[in-house]
Amino acid sequence: MRRKIVAGNWKMNNDLSETEALLNDLIAHVPETDVNVMVAPTFVNLFQAFNMLKGHNIEVIAQNMHQEAKGAYTGEISANMLKSVGVHTVILGHSERRAYFGETDELLAKKVDAALANDLQIVFCFGEELEDRKSENHFNVVESQLKNALFHLAVADWKNIILAYEPVWAIGTGETASPKQAQEMHAFIRKTISEKFGSDTATELSILYGGSVKPANATEIFAKEDVDGGLIGGAALKAADFTAIINAF
Ligand code: 13P
Repeated sequence: MRRKIVAGNWKMNNDLSETEALLNDLIAHVPETDVNVMVAPTFVNLFQAFNMLKGHNIEVIAQNMHQEAKGAYTGEISANMLKSVGVHTVILGHSERRAYFGETDELLAKKVDAALANDLQIVFCFGEELEDRKSENHFNVVESQLKNALFHLAVADWKNIILAYEPVWAIGTGETASPKQAQEMHAFIRKTISEKFGSDTATELSILYGGSVKPANATEIFAKEDVDGGLIGGAALKAADFTAIINAF
C-alpha cells in the first residue's frame, strides 16, 4: 500500500518564535492518523523543529539542499548537515527554485543523486507552466522533467522518492487544478514511471498534488485514485487549515 502524505512547505515564512508557535499549534491539533505528516520550516529553524517534534507524528523536512558534500559554497547546506540536525527528507525541484534560482533538470539530477547517496528521502517537485497547459504541451513538459532528473535512477532508489506534481499556474494563485485535471496528470505520471521502472515501483509510489490546496478543496482532490496526498504552501501556515487538510483524508 502506498503511503498517504500531507506535507507543509513553509517556504520563506516564520522566524524562530513564529515557528515555535505554529509547531506547538500543530502538536496540539494534528490527529493520530495513518497519514504521514511533514513540515518544512526554513533551514535556520530545522534543529529547533526537530527537537520540538521528537515523539510526535510530524516529520521535519528540508526545503532544499546543495549537491556537493562540503567546501567553498558560501550560503549552501549539504545533505550531511541536514542529517546532522535530524532531517531525513528533502524537497527538491520546487518551481520557485527552478524559476528564481536557476535550478535546471541537470542540476536537480545531481541533487537527487547526492540526497540518495546520503540516504535522504526526496519529495521531488515538477509541473508545467501556464503557457505549457494552454498550448497542450503539459504532458510533454512533465515527462521531460521526470526523464531528465530521475530516469537515470535504479529501481531500488524509488523507495526513497515521493513525487509532487505542482502545476506552476496553481501555486499561490488560488487557482487549483480541478480534481479531474489532477487525476489525469497523476495517472500519466504513474504510467510514465511504470513504463520505465515497472509496475511495482509505480504502484508503490506516492504522488502528491500541490497548488492552492485548501480545506475546501482537499477532500475532492485527495479522493482521486492516483492522488496520494498534498504538498501545501499557504494553507500550511495556519494550524487549523493544515489540520483540516490532513483530516480531509
Ligand atoms: P500553495 O499551496 O500556496 O499554492 O503552494 C503550493 C506549493 O508551492 C507547495 O510547495
